[in-house]
Order: sequence, then C-alpha cells, then structure tokens
Amino acid sequence: MKMIKNTLFTEKPVEIGPESGYDNYIMAIESSCDETACAIVKNGREVISNVVASQIKTHEKYGGVIPEIAAREHLESINVVIEEAFKQANMKPEEITAFAGTVGPGLVGCLLVGLNAAKTLALVYDKPFIGVNHLNAHLCGNYIDTDLKPPYIALLISGGHTQIIDVKSYSEQTIIGETIDDAVGEAYDKVARLIGLPYPGGPVLDKLAKEGNPHAYKLPEAKVDGYNFSFSGLKTAVLRLVKSFDGQELPVNDICASFQECVSSTLYKKVKKALEESGYKQVVIAGGVAANSEIRKKIFSLENEGYRVNAPLMKYCTDNAAMVASCAYFNTNTFDDIDVEVFSRA
Ligand code: KG4
Ligand code: ZN
Repeated sequence: MKMIKNTLFTEKPVEIGPESGYDNYIMAIESSCDETACAIVKNGREVISNVVASQIKTHEKYGGVIPEIAAREHLESINVVIEEAFKQANMKPEEITAFAGTVGPGLVGCLLVGLNAAKTLALVYDKPFIGVNHLNAHLCGNYIDTDLKPPYIALLISGGHTQIIDVKSYSEQTIIGETIDDAVGEAYDKVARLIGLPYPGGPVLDKLAKEGNPHAYKLPEAKVDGYNFSFSGLKTAVLRLVKSFDGQELPVNDICASFQECVSSTLYKKVKKALEESGYKQVVIAGGVAANSEIRKKIFSLENEGYRVNAPLMKYCTDNAAMVASCAYFNTNTFDDIDVEVFSRA
C-alpha cells in the first residue's frame, strides 16, 4: 500500500492502491512524445475515460518527431484532453483520488507540459500527486480489463526501448536483457524509411508484411549474449538488400515480411528462454511495438505451451494515459514529490 500526503493543505495522508479499501479514481496525463493523453482509471484496471490527441499528422511531413513542435502542440492540446476526460467520465475534479503524470523518460519540453498540468491539478484540488516512469507505465497497460498479477516476464518494445523484464511484484522489476544498439521500434522506423514508407513506419511496415513472403530473404539474426538484443546489423542487411536492386522496383512486401520474420523470431526465442529459466508461467508484451501483428502472433503461440500470455488492446499499447493511471495505482515505486523534475533518459 502507498501512503501519500495531500500536496498542500490537508494533513491527513491519503491511501492509494489495491489495499486502500475504497475505490480509487486516478486521473493521469501522458505527454512524453507525440501523444497528449489524459485518462481516468478506477482501481488500476477499469478505464472510466481515455482521451488521446495524436500529433502524427503534424510530424508526418518531417518523417519524425520534432521536439520543439511537439512541445508546442502539447500546450495547445493539454486543456482540451483534460476537459474531455472529465466530460467522458462525467466526473468532477473533486471526485478524483489522485493526479498522476509521466516524469520520464521522454522529450523534456513535452514532458514538462503534461507533468505541470498534473501537478497543478493536484495543487488546486488538494489531492496527492504521483509521478510515473513511462516504461513502468507501459507494463501496466496489461492490468487494464484483466486480473493479471505478478510474477511474469515482460517484453517491453517501443520506439526507444527493447527490454526483457523480470516483474517480481507490482513494484519490483529487474531488466534482464536489453538492446545494445537500436530499439525494435527504431529499427522498424529506420527500415521503413529505407524502403520509402511514410512515417510512422512501424505500423505501415507491419501491414505490408502481411502481404509478403516472410522467407523471401534470409536476413541475419544477431548473436548476442543472454537476453540482450542488437538490431543495427539487421538494418544494415536490409540496406544492402535494397541497394542490390540498383534502382529497380523493390519487392517491398517481401522485404517487410522477411524483416518482420527476423525481428519477431529473435524476440520470441529470447522470451521463451526467459520463461524457461525463470519458471514463470505468465508473459506480457508492452510498448508501441506490442501492436505488431506478427510479434503478437508468435508470443501468443506460447499459450499452446501452457503459458498465460497477455497483451494490451492496441489503444493501450501505444502511448496513452490509462496505463499511467494504472501504474500510479499499483506501483509504489513512484515519484510522489511535487517538486520532482522531468528526465529524458531512463
Ligand atoms: O511506445 P510508443 O508509442 O512510443 C515510445 O517509443 O515510447 O512506440 C512507438 C513505436 C514507433 O517506433 C512505432 O513505429 C512502433 O512503436 N509501432 C509499431 C507498430 N505500431 C507502432 N512497430 C511495428 N509494428 C506495429 N504495428
Ligand atoms: Zn511509449
């Protein structure tokens, strides 16, 4: 259980979490990258409202997220998403148990907008403030609408991270493997760019891969020790393959399918090894790339071997605030000081 003092005026501590003995309604704000999001979640699992303003349209023309522009867009959207979250939930700020916000990792200018909004709400309504780590929050997308409890192995795959995590309890997690170079999402986005696909490349590549032959090209799986990963060699291999066509029309679907096959089977093998060595019977996937169809398919095939597999709905895989609210409820390892500052790297 988490005991948190109200931020400014009330002396009596407010209890938060599964053992608090009453219904918690946590409002969270997420603004670490290019989504401005606000959600209200009851008891860490039941989404009362969930609003996401995506900036994809803005960044499309640059082929990536421009931090300055992203921060300014967050400023324009933040009040709108907060109002909409209250409206959809039909709730008043006074009815909220605590206000949470993403502290990092992420783009500093972007994080500042959401975090300051969450702190301000906490101060104005004299409620606890809970600062959340974005990566921990991604894992918590798995608690929404489920009864999942630790321990389990988590595969966290996003634009910035690729990690295998041993989740021992709601608040204790150990990273047992990670990428030594590119993150999976980064590899998807870079390869997508190489073959001329629009931003954001990951989802487009995934779609085209379904139309191609996954065994058309044999791409190299990096041999990295333990549970670590490397994707930069694979990216170079795709570059070489693209160059070999020497300006002729690219078999885009086959390249996408072969790349996707290589990435998904690497992830699958390491996750399976982690399950066998930990003795855990549960595995979850999380992060933006957990929306990927082939990675989902391969990890879910572990169900045939007796494992419980969970992946959040697509809308809780990519950046959203419901996962942040869930994390504020379940994880006691949070940043609860109203003076906490944003951070860019984990
Ligand atoms: O977690 P996320 O929304 O943002 C952070 O990185 O924190 O993840 C975004 C990443 C991007 O690289 C995007 O291309 C990738 O997730 N992505 C996908 C798919 N959907 C999103 N990659 C592969 N297949 C997908 N279906
Ligand atoms: Zn994310």
